[in-house]
Amino acid sequence: MKVFDQIEPLMAQFEQFDKKHSIGFVPTMGALHDGHIELIKQAKNENQIVVCSIFINKIQFNNEEDFIKYPKNIDKDIQLLNEVDCDYLLIPTQENIFPATYAYKNYSLGNIEYNFEGQHRPGHFQGVCNVVDRLLTIVRPNKLYLGQKDIQQCKVIEKLLTLIQIDKHIEIKICNTVRNNFGLALSSRNQRLSNDGLAHATILYKTLCEAKKIISTETSITGLKKACQNYIEMIVDQGFQSVDYFSILNHDFETIDENTINKHPYCIVTAATIENIRLIDNIII
Ligand code: PAJ
Repeated sequence: MKVFDQIEPLMAQFEQFDKKHSIGFVPTMGALHDGHIELIKQAKNENQIVVCSIFINKIQFNNEEDFIKYPKNIDKDIQLLNEVDCDYLLIPTQENIFPATYAYKNYSLGNIEYNFEGQHRPGHFQGVCNVVDRLLTIVRPNKLYLGQKDIQQCKVIEKLLTLIQIDKHIEIKICNTVRNNFGLALSSRNQRLSNDGLAHATILYKTLCEAKKIISTETSITGLKKACQNYIEMIVDQGFQSVDYFSILNHDFETIDENTINKHPYCIVTAATIENIRLIDNIII
């Protein structure tokens, strides 16, 4: 694997590939785990060239402590990427991506920017879009690999692709969430949980699975809302400090309510905090 810590040499190298080869791109913030590696493997299967980037994007963190404590393990990351034959790794500096003169953009993302993760992490999705826009302009991939684990991020980036000017069609590939043996979605932030925290955190996926079952039998909005409230209580009973949301959404990524009951449920999303670590998860219906 070739590792670049500067943008220009990577872009120069890629000019030769551009038209002849299919480039698969996996943007990450590092501290790689099997979830990230699955994205790389899928990209390897579907492209001639696979690029991974590692950049801890400060502007998408709305919590300073979360940014400072974000796990970093670059040597191990490089080793893992080599093991799966990733072709290129870009590890740009802050100055490379957002030079001091950089004019940050504001994208018209619609309601999805302000719901769920957007509500609890103001500015987060604009931060994600700014960095993804920059990275796409640099890498110019044919296919962009994202994890269903961050389903709202997938929807936001789908919207972003309709807004930005890149003279290349970029296809989004959404990969299944990789979980540990107990169902917990892998996340770089899991590294910050104690063993006890890790054990209790498995309740998130268990309740999502329960909720998915309920949807097939419970058709009234009141019943579904009550069920979601019960799930929140179950999560708190298992030692979570708080639950930001536990919601059943339609295809427009809105909570199913009296007005939208006829639109088919699409997924169930949740976010909750344990040991001061905020975890998110979802299940597609
Ligand atoms: P990061 O959290 O490092 O995740 C990088 C990619 O890996 C994302 O597409 C994410 O959805 C996916 N991923 C994370 N955990 C996963 C799991 N358990 N199973 C499958 N895929 C998983 O998401 C980001 O970084 C950033 O917001 C980024 C897009 C890089 C922009 O800064």
